[in-house]
Amino acid sequence: MSNTYLSSIVKSGQVNTPPGSYLTIKEWVRNSFIGAQSTILEVGCSTGFISIEIARYTGATCIGVDVDEASIATARRNIDRHIASRVSFQQGDAGSLPFADNLFSHVVIGGHLPFIQPDERRRHIIEALRVLKPWGYILVALYYYHSPPPPELVDEFNTKIGTKLSSDGTRTYWSGLFNGLPLTLECESEYNVLPGDKKRVQQYVEQMHLETQNDWQEYLRLFNENGRFLSYFVKAYRKIPNEPNLMLQIPRGGIYNVRRKSTRDF
Ligand SMILES: C[S@@+](CC[C@H](N)C(=O)[O-])C[C@H]1O[C@@H](n2cnc3c(N)ncnc32)[C@H](O)[C@@H]1O
Repeated sequence: MSNTYLSSIVKSGQVNTPPGSYLTIKEWVRNSFIGAQSTILEVGCSTGFISIEIARYTGATCIGVDVDEASIATARRNIDRHIASRVSFQQGDAGSLPFADNLFSHVVIGGHLPFIQPDERRRHIIEALRVLKPWGYILVALYYYHSPPPPELVDEFNTKIGTKLSSDGTRTYWSGLFNGLPLTLECESEYNVLPGDKKRVQQYVEQMHLETQNDWQEYLRLFNENGRFLSYFVKAYRKIPNEPNLMLQIPRGGIYNVRRKSTRDF
C-alpha cells in the first residue's frame, strides 16, 4: 500500500469511522428504513466499521468494497461471529464497481471521495447510483470547510493523509457533487465539529497499538488543526427510477414549508 496514513490505520487497530461515527450510522438507519431485508453496499469501507455496525443494528446484509487489500484483510478480521453470515468485504475500485446494475437497496458513499481526484468524484457517485435499485437510498456523510483554512494546512493535510482536498471544499462544493442526478433528498442534518481536548486525544491514542502511538499523536494534532475549519453533513437521497409518469410531489412537501417544533423520543 502506498498511502502511509491508510496503512497506519490498518496497523494501529484504529476504528476508522464516518464523520459523526455511531450517530451518523443511526441517523442513516432510521431515515432510510434499513432492516433485515436490506442489502447494503459500502464504498471505501476501510476496516469495516460502517458495514459491521449497520449489520449489528439492523440485521441487514452488508458488503464493503475498498481498493486497499490490507484494509480489506483487517475488515474481515473485524467481523464478529454474530454477524458473520451477513457481512463480507472485497477488494474493488469505486470507479468501476464489480456489481450488476440495480442490485443494492442502499449504497453508503462519501469517505473515499476526498482521496479521489476532483474531476473523478462525480463519476464515482454515478457509478454508485448504477448499482442501486430504483427507489433505493444513497447515504452520505462528508466533512466540508465552513470557513477557508490556511492553504499551508490543506497542503500539509493532503501530503500526510493522502487526500486531494482544496480550501474551497465548502458545503456547496460537496453537496453540489450530488446535484443534477436522478436523486431526491429525503433528509439532511448538519453538525459542527469541536476539536478534541487533551484528555480525549490521550484516550484515543491509548487504544492504538503501541508502536503506532507516536504517529497517531501527529495525525491527531493535524486532525484537530483541520477540525477548526470543519463542519459535516449527513444526508439520505433516493434514486428516482428512469420512468415516465411517476407520482412525485413538486415542490416536495407541497405548498407549505414546515419546521419541526419538537420531537420526543421514548
Ligand atoms: C477515510 S476511509 C473511509 C472510512 C469510512 N468508510 C468512511 O466513509 O468514513 C477512505 C477509504 O477509501 C478507500 N479508497 C480510496 N480510493 C478508493 C477507490 N478508488 N475505490 C475504493 N476505495 C477507495 C481508501 O483505501 C480508504 O480505506
